[in-house]
Amino acid sequence: MAVTAARIKTLGTENAFKLGEDIAICLERGVDVVKFNLGEPDFDSAPHINRKAIEQIEAGNSHYCDPAGILPFRQAIAKHVSDSRGLEVGPERVVVTPGAKPPICFALETYVDPGDEVIYPSPGFPIYESWVTFLGAKPVPLMLSEEKGFAFSADELGELITDKTKLIILNSPSNPTGGVLSKGDLEGIARVIRERAQPDVRVYSDEVYEHILFDGEVHNSIASEAGMADKTVLVSGHSKGFAMTGWRLGWAVLPNQEEAAIFKQLNINIVSCVPPFIQEAGREAYESPETAAAVAKMVSAFERRRDWVVEALNDISGVSCQMPKGAFYVFPNISGVCEALGVVEAHRAMPPEVARRTSPSGMFQMFLLYSYGVATMDRNSFGSIGAKGQHFLRLSIATGMDRLKIGLERMREASKDAEGFAAFLKRERLWG
Ligand SMILES: Cc1ncc(COP(=O)(O)O)c(C=O)c1O
Repeated sequence: MAVTAARIKTLGTENAFKLGEDIAICLERGVDVVKFNLGEPDFDSAPHINRKAIEQIEAGNSHYCDPAGILPFRQAIAKHVSDSRGLEVGPERVVVTPGAKPPICFALETYVDPGDEVIYPSPGFPIYESWVTFLGAKPVPLMLSEEKGFAFSADELGELITDKTKLIILNSPSNPTGGVLSKGDLEGIARVIRERAQPDVRVYSDEVYEHILFDGEVHNSIASEAGMADKTVLVSGHSKGFAMTGWRLGWAVLPNQEEAAIFKQLNINIVSCVPPFIQEAGREAYESPETAAAVAKMVSAFERRRDWVVEALNDISGVSCQMPKGAFYVFPNISGVCEALGVVEAHRAMPPEVARRTSPSGMFQMFLLYSYGVATMDRNSFGSIGAKGQHFLRLSIATGMDRLKIGLERMREASKDAEGFAAFLKRERLWG
């Protein structure tokens, strides 16, 4: 009898966390690693938010609380959603979760049976594909193409919708591409969902980067479109926009009170509740007049870095990079470099069981890390189904300009170093 259950082998992961093991090896060898892999702001949470949490702990607000979330915080979330999306949302439809990640699992557990189809963006946040596969649902990746600025047309989505589609996952602004769905895009998407999907379909709208938009863009939600509010699970949180990744604070607005009760029950089964002092600090983030300036300062730093990095990447031969409109990532196409360094050929020459463990962009990613001390994420870390032949990296620009400059200079050198790549393959034997 096997020690572990068969299903656990089907659970995926988020490589941004897993890469830590390779980074640790490089650091131990004395390599200075420039970290472009992390999906978190390099800013700390704002002082007024920190102060609120400390005050609350000192006042004894450190006990279990309502598993759906404390009422004043749910009220603040409902107000924020109503004001920013033009919706009528009350606290009874809000559930507070430890980060914006648990609602992904909660939604799949709640709505999807084995064999049901789930449409999700690819490249996209890897945890979507991970839970879809784990729960025995059918993954239906919606491929985002570089030529269309990593957006997709309503017709492309429409072609994937069948009678078995139970959940459609959208993510705007997007991780990893930085693509943003416009109001016009969302109108078309809503129309196609109304026309083609079963009436009980649910849309999972991951809006965790809602505050990080460039070039004066404003945030739009599918939930604001006609007929969508009662189909949409709207998810966001404090990790990205308020630089609160380690606090673990997120929320979901459910289509109705009954479905909110299921999310609450999932909280009861797994975490009981989110710490009340953290929720009070989260409420402060929404209610304090000091928050807007802190967010604006961070977003304008990301925007300045984006402008510099995209130009620097496009200046490297064999690399092309679109201009992201939101979030804090750039997603360059590295096909030219993979060809020039013989990465594609080296991958093709691997025995199939070894080749399956990586991809050309994964091999270049590891070359950059082990030989040049630059940590990035590869294309397959954002959904591997249907990703064959796509050679991209994701770089987080949540890193100071000085480190960005060092990292980009190293990437430029690495992109010309065919000999170094061949030596790296012989030396490290990372894939067996
Ligand atoms: C698209 C997307 N959704 C959800 C999450 C999870 O956010 P949290 O850290 O709040 O759980 C992330 C984090 O990287 C993300 O990029």
